[in-house]
Amino acid sequence: MKIFLDSANIDQVRQAKALGTIEGVTTNPSLLSKEKGDWKKIVRQICKEIDGPVSVEVISTESQAMLAEARDLVKIAPNIVIKVPMTLEGLKTISELHNQGIDTNATLVFSPNQALLAAKAGATYVSPFIGRLDDIGQDGMQVIQDIMTVFRNYDLSTQVLAASIRHTNHFFQAAILGADAITIPLPVLFDLAKHPLTDIGLAKFMNDWATR
Ligand code: G3P
Repeated sequence: MKIFLDSANIDQVRQAKALGTIEGVTTNPSLLSKEKGDWKKIVRQICKEIDGPVSVEVISTESQAMLAEARDLVKIAPNIVIKVPMTLEGLKTISELHNQGIDTNATLVFSPNQALLAAKAGATYVSPFIGRLDDIGQDGMQVIQDIMTVFRNYDLSTQVLAASIRHTNHFFQAAILGADAITIPLPVLFDLAKHPLTDIGLAKFMNDWATR
């Protein structure tokens, strides 16, 4: 499972990179709008820092305008992936970008049907939002499993990118299911490295050593 950082903050990207476990970054308009300064400069910095894919979302809702944005975005860096909302206009955009050989990430995916359409249109990734499904009382992880079954049934190459990840159990479940990729906020990445027995064991080693 590829691990991406879900952040538009360059310091967070650097912190995650230092741990050697991050293979890409996903941003969205909400994350980028929290950052101070020129958003294009921020995106360029992130793309320089990370060798892998960096998803940046279009903010238009109509396909021609999305395509115009995408043309600008791909000029920023070669590792940009165009994040496109899962709408009818978004599907047209994904299809056209696919024809042009540009990688896309279909975002705001909440059902296997949406994921299948995005894959048919040529999306490189689909991003089912696990946490937001859980928030409304549905089982987000079941949607990941269903999408993976559908993709396997038809041998589709679109990658399932588990998104809207809120805690370490989401991460574990996605890994058990064999999701292609997951995007996680920095606090979740830090939590993944922790275990109380590690802390207790380390304290004992330190104490034994100090009192030898
Ligand atoms: O990658 C999508 C993600 O940023 C959405 O997360 O926590 O806003 O639902 P969240």
